[in-house]
Amino acid sequence: MSKEFDILVIGGGPGGYVAAIRAAQLGFTVACCESNPYADPKGEPRLGGTCLNVGCIPSKALLHTSHLYEEAAHAFAGQGIEIGAPKINVSKMLARKNGIVEQLTGGIKGLFKKNKVTFLSGHGAFAGKSTNGWKLKVGKEEVEAKQVIVATGSRPRHLPNLSVDNKLVCDNVGALDIDAVPKKLAVIGAGIIGLEMGSVWRRLGAEVTILEALPEFLPIADVDVAKEALKIFTKQGLVIYTGVKIGEVKTGKKNVTVAYTDKDGKAAQLEADRLIVSIGRIPNTEGLNAGAVGLNLNERGQIEVDAHCKTNLPGVWAIGDVVRGPMLAHKAMEEGVQVAELIAGQAGHTNLDAIPAVIYTTPEIAWVGKTEQQLKAEGVAYKAGKIPFLANGRALGIGAPEGFVKMLADAKTDRILGVHIIGAGASDLISEATVALEFAGASEDLARICHAHPTLSEVLHEAALACDKRALHF
Ligand code: FAD
Ligand code: NAI
Repeated sequence: MSKEFDILVIGGGPGGYVAAIRAAQLGFTVACCESNPYADPKGEPRLGGTCLNVGCIPSKALLHTSHLYEEAAHAFAGQGIEIGAPKINVSKMLARKNGIVEQLTGGIKGLFKKNKVTFLSGHGAFAGKSTNGWKLKVGKEEVEAKQVIVATGSRPRHLPNLSVDNKLVCDNVGALDIDAVPKKLAVIGAGIIGLEMGSVWRRLGAEVTILEALPEFLPIADVDVAKEALKIFTKQGLVIYTGVKIGEVKTGKKNVTVAYTDKDGKAAQLEADRLIVSIGRIPNTEGLNAGAVGLNLNERGQIEVDAHCKTNLPGVWAIGDVVRGPMLAHKAMEEGVQVAELIAGQAGHTNLDAIPAVIYTTPEIAWVGKTEQQLKAEGVAYKAGKIPFLANGRALGIGAPEGFVKMLADAKTDRILGVHIIGAGASDLISEATVALEFAGASEDLARICHAHPTLSEVLHEAALACDKRALHF
């Protein structure tokens, strides 16, 4: 006898678990299956996907600890706090991080119970059509569901001919569990993981070198932000080489040698005692039996969906990292809610043009909407307001004068098109900009809103004023 549900969600990451909870709230019978290797105390796979187990949450825990360490080592004395040189206890740092992961992933199991979502432990795959929907296999069990939401996420892309043991050569999984501060750390890929994890280990004392294939640094960010970030990260001690071509990577017992060609075509090599490979992620579609049921994938291997996250198969939806759009947890969650509400006949919606992005380095980098280079390429006439944190009393008070807020607004209509922040608190400041963008707000709207003083949000306010060339404090 197969188990029957209105909805089966395949994958218990931020996309899947949120879709399951929202669908249950809307009155459906829902199951969510998960098959990852991260076991909870009962030996069952943990919920939370990449984000909670080996992504957003553990990385932010390590970023916080290493930030405190760096402040203690370099910033306290300047404020009159004399504590001597701090020492890092890496195993304690990792234990704290693991505790947070345990707490949050267990919390989702609790949310499933509360919302009456059935958790199924095992790998989900299509087995064919049923009278009312789809037959699936979850592990050895047979399941029937009227609707299926595929939320199988992504996994790290690896280099060909280089095996990742997550000890010497790490992807994101091993990078979050390095058990001692490496003397020399090599990172391949100066993307978000490379910069965040590179920052963690640099702050704790490693010599970090990042090798990036593209000629420019951080091209997904606004060009001014990328320039400022490279300047600041270099000053902090991260060594970043762009335009490199990676050659052979040799692993010894305790060290790694990366041969590469530099931007001028000169052969070079980098020796390190750990290597992190962070060169992007691949959607998880293997083992779904997608081909057999005719589920369409696009040329990038993602499940093809329309604006409503509908696939080409009736009653089959796909969300999160396994489909187009930014690979971000909050985007996956939005799509989870969207699909559950669409199945219930409601007007579920995700605005892919207003998904904020954050890089949790120091200073933080955050943006929403279009970059200046995108507007130029699209031939959109725009005006810009750019204000440095240096002009803000609160930024000086907390010892974080670096960076700026840059607002881009339509030259004719004044509608905000993009906001780009590099500076303290950027991860929170970007929410106000996202609200403005979602409400189709103008720079004048933000300029006319009273912002508390002294706060970092005043820099955003001044940037809005600067769009009209009437900044007051700069
Ligand atoms: P996932 O989280 O990948 O979850 C998919 C789940 O499906 C997995 O648990 C997988 O085991 C399971 N699964 C796959 N196939 C099957 C199957 N056939 N049957 C059963 N289960 C299956 N994003 C942010 O927004 N902010 C951050 O700060 C951030 N930091 C990150 C840091 C790192 C180091 C990494 C690697 C990623 C980070 N991300 C961050 C990205 C974020 O983790 C992903 O965008 C997010 O997890 C995607 O959610 P998802 O539900 O689509 O997929
Ligand atoms: P990424 O796409 O951010 O960066 C990968 C980098 O590697 C790019 O700059 C790319 O040009 C470079 N690269 C690719 N192939 C290369 C090669 N052969 N040699 C040298 N460089 C090469 O991918 P990353 O850092 O792996 O992260 C994956 C995704 O996870 C991110 O894109 C993001 O969606 C998500 N993430 C989000 C975070 C956040 O929101 N704060 C934090 C970490 C990850």
